Amino acid sequence: MTAQLIDGKLISAQIKQEAAVEAAKIKEAGVIPCLAVVLVGNDSASQVYVNNKKKACEVVGIRSVSYELDGGTTEEELLRLVAQLNADEAVHGILVQMPLPKQINEEKVILAIDAKKDVDCFHPMNVGLLHTGGKGFLPCTPAGIIELIKRSGHTIQGQNCVIIGRSNIVGKPVAMLLMQENGTVTICHSKTRNLAEVCRGADIIVSATGKVNTVTADMVKAGAVVIDVGMNRNEAGKLCGDVDFEHVKEIAGAITPVPGGVGPMTIAMLIKNCLVAAKMQNNLK
Ligand code: GUN
Repeated sequence: MTAQLIDGKLISAQIKQEAAVEAAKIKEAGVIPCLAVVLVGNDSASQVYVNNKKKACEVVGIRSVSYELDGGTTEEELLRLVAQLNADEAVHGILVQMPLPKQINEEKVILAIDAKKDVDCFHPMNVGLLHTGGKGFLPCTPAGIIELIKRSGHTIQGQNCVIIGRSNIVGKPVAMLLMQENGTVTICHSKTRNLAEVCRGADIIVSATGKVNTVTADMVKAGAVVIDVGMNRNEAGKLCGDVDFEHVKEIAGAITPVPGGVGPMTIAMLIKNCLVAAKMQNNLK
């Protein structure tokens, strides 16, 4: 048997189409949704991500303003820019691309962004709201994972969901969202004993370790849904995820490819958060 391929490109295109309709409505109400994108330094992966985010804004009809700062930018200079964007009423969302150069404390920068403009959902206020189940921004990659599972026809309620990885950006917040969807959640990490055995009990596996072959075919129950958040290079230099795709696809019920799975969804959900921000700041429904 070969698994259903969960097409993140297709599903993200649908979400962006829905967002374009929404953006048009917001504009009719006299507001031009606007995202400020800040990139510090010239990390090539970050440049690609930032360009994709700006492109998606353009396609959907969101204005984007771009700040590309030198790699030697000081923390004080970046904090000054964040303060300026916080104060700018025409800017609804602020995205500072991570990672930042080592002279800048990322936590300080995240704290400095106005929580109402925090479209990444990184600010502790928004993380707290996510945990208590309040409304507001959803973390982009985790929310994208939920959409992939649901829109490809799978249920989360009552399912055993095993997450591998406990990062603030993916592992922890995706656990919250899966729990809100009434999944039974287990979070595994580098110190977990018998990872393979835990995974074999999963109906849904989410792998976010950044390690090639974290999930191999012997760890997957027949018919399980496998979501691969990894973005790695194998020995041949080829882009690949955390999952041994070629073998796991013969066992799983559904699987996301890398690239073309979770990646495009992160951007689609960022776009949605920009619209949420624009509406919130202008009391629009
Ligand atoms: N770096 C890698 N992923 C992300 C993301 O989703 N947002 C930001 N701001 N930086 C990142």
